[in-house]
Amino acid sequence: MTERQIRLFGDPVLRSVCDPIQPGDKRVQGLVDDLLETVEVPGRAGLAANQIGVALRAFSYNIDGRVGYILNPVITELAGERELVEEGCLSVPGFYFPRLRYPQATVTGIDVAGNPIEIGGEGILAQAIQHEVDHLDGHLYIEGLEPDAKRDAMRAIRSASWY
Ligand code: NI
Repeated sequence: MTERQIRLFGDPVLRSVCDPIQPGDKRVQGLVDDLLETVEVPGRAGLAANQIGVALRAFSYNIDGRVGYILNPVITELAGERELVEEGCLSVPGFYFPRLRYPQATVTGIDVAGNPIEIGGEGILAQAIQHEVDHLDGHLYIEGLEPDAKRDAMRAIRSASWY
């Protein structure tokens, strides 16, 4: 397992629509190991495969002491009234902006062996599910901000030391 470097805003892989993982793909165990190791760093909540440069549909999470992953995630349920929540992203380091998210979310997919798995919950987990699936479709959370927040975000990013 290796803690991988996080790709930052502006890297084209973050705009990639990631490919589904095929059963038996030999690269997948290594990808999952790296996703888990990289998300286990304290302060991290979720990580999509393209954030470590791999354009395949997988993400890992580290929420309330529970670390896991899912392959080929598909959102099957979003529930409740969307509400503004503070959101950040490892690919946009140092910033948080208010973003509308559903308070409950469920995602289904598979594990490395191809067995079906489902992850669902509220709060941070629901937010992470929505955020990470957006990554796999090539979208950063910044794109979905309300217009004023988006303007503030773009201005802040352009003046960031890492940009
Ligand atoms: Ni992110």
